[in-house]
Amino acid sequence: LKILSVVSEVFPLVKTGGLADVAGALPAALAPHDIETRTLLPGYPAVLVALGEGETVHRFDHLFGGPARLLAGTAGGLDLFVIDAPHLYDRPGGPYVGPNGVDWGDNAQRFAALGAVASGLGLGLLPGFVPDIVHAHDWQAALAPAYLHYSGGRRPGTVMTIHNIAFQGQFPAYMFGMLGLPPHAFAVDGVEYYGMVGYLKAGLQLADRITTVSPGYAGEIRLPEGGMGLDGLLSARSDVVSGILNGLDEAAWNPATDTLIPSPFDEKKLKARAANKVALKQAFGLDPDPDALLFGVVSRLSWQKGLDLLADSLHTLTGLGAQLVLLGSGDADLAGRFSWAAQTNPGRIGVELGYDEKAAHLIQAGSDVLIVPSRFEPCGLTQLSALRYGALPLVSRVGGLADTVIDVNEMARTTGVGTGVQFSPVTAPALQLALKRIAGLWQDKVLWKKLQRNAMTTDVSWERAAKQYAALFRQLAAERAA
Ligand code: ADP
Ligand code: GLC
Repeated sequence: LKILSVVSEVFPLVKTGGLADVAGALPAALAPHDIETRTLLPGYPAVLVALGEGETVHRFDHLFGGPARLLAGTAGGLDLFVIDAPHLYDRPGGPYVGPNGVDWGDNAQRFAALGAVASGLGLGLLPGFVPDIVHAHDWQAALAPAYLHYSGGRRPGTVMTIHNIAFQGQFPAYMFGMLGLPPHAFAVDGVEYYGMVGYLKAGLQLADRITTVSPGYAGEIRLPEGGMGLDGLLSARSDVVSGILNGLDEAAWNPATDTLIPSPFDEKKLKARAANKVALKQAFGLDPDPDALLFGVVSRLSWQKGLDLLADSLHTLTGLGAQLVLLGSGDADLAGRFSWAAQTNPGRIGVELGYDEKAAHLIQAGSDVLIVPSRFEPCGLTQLSALRYGALPLVSRVGGLADTVIDVNEMARTTGVGTGVQFSPVTAPALQLALKRIAGLWQDKVLWKKLQRNAMTTDVSWERAAKQYAALFRQLAAERAA
């Protein structure tokens, strides 16, 4: 089976969050199922550098404002198609925002191009690779199913995966004209969304199947509280919606072979973990205090992640004699609050602002507890690495967090199956209770080791998910062929 994965970021070439991790890991996980994946990606500077020469497989005279080439090649272990369109992608800054942190003014064109080229490939632009399924990730790729739907011809099956429904790609109605879709597509059952053009809405409306990245989130987005305006559409299409829990890229995240940490370890050699805690405290300028409970955070700083609740709870944390290391990038106000906390709690709170792969690994390997207090979380990958690395996750009971962490409640404790702590509602007082609860568990060193072993032996691999994607792709391909 041939899959075209359409996505705006992919690890290790370009990454702003978990979307890149997932798009980067899924192709290899699907390969044993006899599924060949090619990934279609915009030609940002970093991607073109990684691709090197590449092979020009198609030329577009005019792709949303300028000429472009479609390149084929491999990079980062992935088989790629890359859209080399300098007028859209050749610029400094991030994939979505400029160096000033503001969205690129032409994102509508930049990601319409991604969808349109995907659709072209789906319809047989390159006879050497005609996909059975076009798999679109998030709003940036969501016009692919729409273009294919309106193509009228014989087309591949389409799957739309939601990694985060908070980002929907909505643009003014006058943009519709440049998309090249038939006029009747601007309708409630097409790409129109509250008088605007909605990219994600279009994908969800028109794809053959919809998936999201955990069963829990698949439920939440069909309710008004979690659907961010798309719950009605998703309920109406309930029969094609499913949740497939992400896995963890175990090539990148394996504590026994991790070259980014000073002391590799596994569940049988837990003692070796201690050296990472020492190194972590040193790196973040914390007091050695070996008995203090060490909390860690690795996160984007945004409203979604609920870290303002943690900022409101630092007095509880330090009051417990605990310490905190935080690695984060994003929201300037939150960054300021945590920097201030570090300045006013020297030796107890350490903060690094920015994106730092090595520090992320060290925090997973060295902290005792990883805090993820998200207001909503489609899946979440940091709690999966935390499980793998024996940092017990303390998480809010939402989405994929609720699906992956087994709360050490009384029964879990008696049965010996817990792996972390969940709290609800997602408020500062509830988080404070959870901090105290996990500090209580920390007192019982025998129990703690047991919980760490439970966590580290949890199956967070891609194999489970790959099976489910493979089944879904095959079923859909068979349906299309019939
Ligand atoms: P999201 O995609 O919503 O940000 P996920 O938990 O799915 O959340 O994925 C986050 C990914 O980004 C993880 O691989 C995590 O290790 C990484 N990450 C987040 N913040 C940072 C940071 N400041 N430095 C390095 N890696 C980070
Ligand atoms: C999004 C979500 C996160 C999920 C990731 C990968 O960024 O916020 O919860 O893990 O996508 O699916």
